[in-house]
Amino acid sequence: MRRPQPASPGVHVRAARTEDLPACAEVWRAALDGYGTRVGRPPTVAAPAPLVALLEHLRTTDGERFLVAVRPAPAGGERVVAFTSAVRRADVWFLAMLFVHPDEQARGIGRRLLDAVLPAGDDVARRGTCTDAAQPVSNGIYARLGIVPRVPVLELVGRPDPARLPALSAGVRAVPFEAHGLGAAGDAGPRRLAAVLDALDRGALGYAHPEDHAFLASSGRLGYVYEGAGGAPVGYGYVSAAGRVGPAAAAGEDLLPGILGHLLGVVQPAGVFSAWVPGAAGPAVAALLEAGLRVEDFPALLCWDRPFGDFSRYVPGTLALL
Ligand SMILES: CC(C)(COP(=O)(O)OP(=O)(O)OC[C@H]1O[C@@H](n2cnc3c(N)ncnc32)[C@H](O)[C@@H]1OP(=O)(O)O)[C@@H](O)C(=O)NCCC(=O)NCCS
Repeated sequence: MRRPQPASPGVHVRAARTEDLPACAEVWRAALDGYGTRVGRPPTVAAPAPLVALLEHLRTTDGERFLVAVRPAPAGGERVVAFTSAVRRADVWFLAMLFVHPDEQARGIGRRLLDAVLPAGDDVARRGTCTDAAQPVSNGIYARLGIVPRVPVLELVGRPDPARLPALSAGVRAVPFEAHGLGAAGDAGPRRLAAVLDALDRGALGYAHPEDHAFLASSGRLGYVYEGAGGAPVGYGYVSAAGRVGPAAAAGEDLLPGILGHLLGVVQPAGVFSAWVPGAAGPAVAALLEAGLRVEDFPALLCWDRPFGDFSRYVPGTLALL
């Protein structure tokens, strides 16, 4: 039984608008730094453009569940003090973001926002999120609802030794998305590619999410389908020119190291590669470390009430959106 919530007087909760998103990004930065610097992290490098683009994608694909908490600003208008975003993909509800400005924390605003976006009591949705192992408050709030940390996700960072990268499994070849035919979304090539991605996602992640693939394509990530014997799709994966790896899905756990190894070999980022790899994908974690990547920081924690994905063969592209 949840305790009654403090009223958080003066705070009004409403649907987010596009023009709120830079202020949400600022709340995100302040909330992360509010505890991150206490656990020895350097201040967050503000990256408003990609973050705001992700927030806009979350908002446009599930606006009903993207809310801001605002207060009247001294100079007139409103000030965003907190925000949340959850997305519904098939029968999975995923909490993408919940951030409260440090000056406003521990007053019930986080719980109030969360309650407003949680599935209704009679909804059969499976509920999930990804938390930071270094943050007891969020882990406590979600775990009390049954959304409990189940699988660590390691951030693996660095520049691998190309000679030590895991090779694609025998008989598997990488086919760039472009080879499936460019054209309008309704054309046969892109339609076939979308069907392949949907099927692989249903197998590994537990649900299809074509809207998120469209976002990845629009943000310029390179995508590959991996084909096995007779051209049967056995996986897919993305990598960005900046070195961000994922999402990636495989038909079997044994195929994932080779897929990740391939993705790390196809671009030369100016800086380092980074990938969020679930601990459940043990052979992939071990292979990337063996190739020279290093574990960065505290792990993230994948949380759910009832299981939906097989994280021995799925690598998310971001912790906010599987
Ligand atoms: C996590 C966060 C969103 C919570 O919002 P908030 O407005 O500060 O939280 P609330 O006041 O609504 O509720 C906090 C609840 O957590 C509980 N809590 C705090 N520490 C806890 C702990 N160690 N274990 C279990 N529960 C804990 C409190 O008791 C309270 O519940 P109660 O009101 O039933 O007593 C906010 O603190 C924040 O933005 N933190 C930094 C960013 C972050 O970690 N975001 C989550 C990303 S996964």
